Amino acid sequence: MFSIVINRCWAMYSYKQIDPSEYRVLHPRPAYLIVSRNGSGRLNVMAASWVSPVSEEPPLIIVAIGRGSLTREYILETKEFTINIVGEEHLNLTFKAGTVSGRSVDKWKMLGLEELPSKYISVPGIKGSYGFIECVLNKVVEAGECDLLFCEPKAIHVREDLYTRYGWDLKKAKILLHIGGRAFTIPGKLLLAEKK
Ligand SMILES: Cc1cc2nc3c(=O)[nH]c(=O)nc-3n(C[C@H](O)[C@H](O)[C@H](O)COP(=O)(O)O)c2cc1C
Repeated sequence: MFSIVINRCWAMYSYKQIDPSEYRVLHPRPAYLIVSRNGSGRLNVMAASWVSPVSEEPPLIIVAIGRGSLTREYILETKEFTINIVGEEHLNLTFKAGTVSGRSVDKWKMLGLEELPSKYISVPGIKGSYGFIECVLNKVVEAGECDLLFCEPKAIHVREDLYTRYGWDLKKAKILLHIGGRAFTIPGKLLLAEKK
């Protein structure tokens, strides 16, 4: 009955075709801060929203990174990085980290970032983030102008006041989602699907 009502509503909508390169149709999606370090110990940070878990056994995460970025260069050099989960309060920090390259400025210093020590790798997390994942590079696959960096999460640290056994407490953790350009949003509503 329920699905019939839904189907009748669908019949009322008309659709338009948009450009196949319009990736924003898959947004909003979380924006993260990727921290990397080169062989001499210089830290860099960039924003990334094309980040996704792709396997549970073993746990694997991919990050799609532009081939021209300094972050990619550092990660290929040291094979380590952290993925930092950020929220509404990190909006401007995230936008800056995603619009300036570490090739032209020391972003770590410019943004006044402080290190949160990692347990298994030499690259730190960011103090004040909601949490971070210690990642070790597993393999690289070319994809258009990006490289897909497959990584193994070695440890995950989360802010105790924000994380529950069901995941992020969305009443408190205003996870930052990127729409496109300067536009971001945050999750606004918890929806629970019917129990089977
Ligand atoms: C919200 C946001 C998300 C972004 N996501 C990605 C991404 O997933 N992959 C990517 O390569 N660049 C992404 N960028 C662009 C990079 O962060 C940007 O090119 C950055 O300047 C690279 O810095 P780097 O050269 O210091 O590594 C994003 C930018 C913003 C603002």
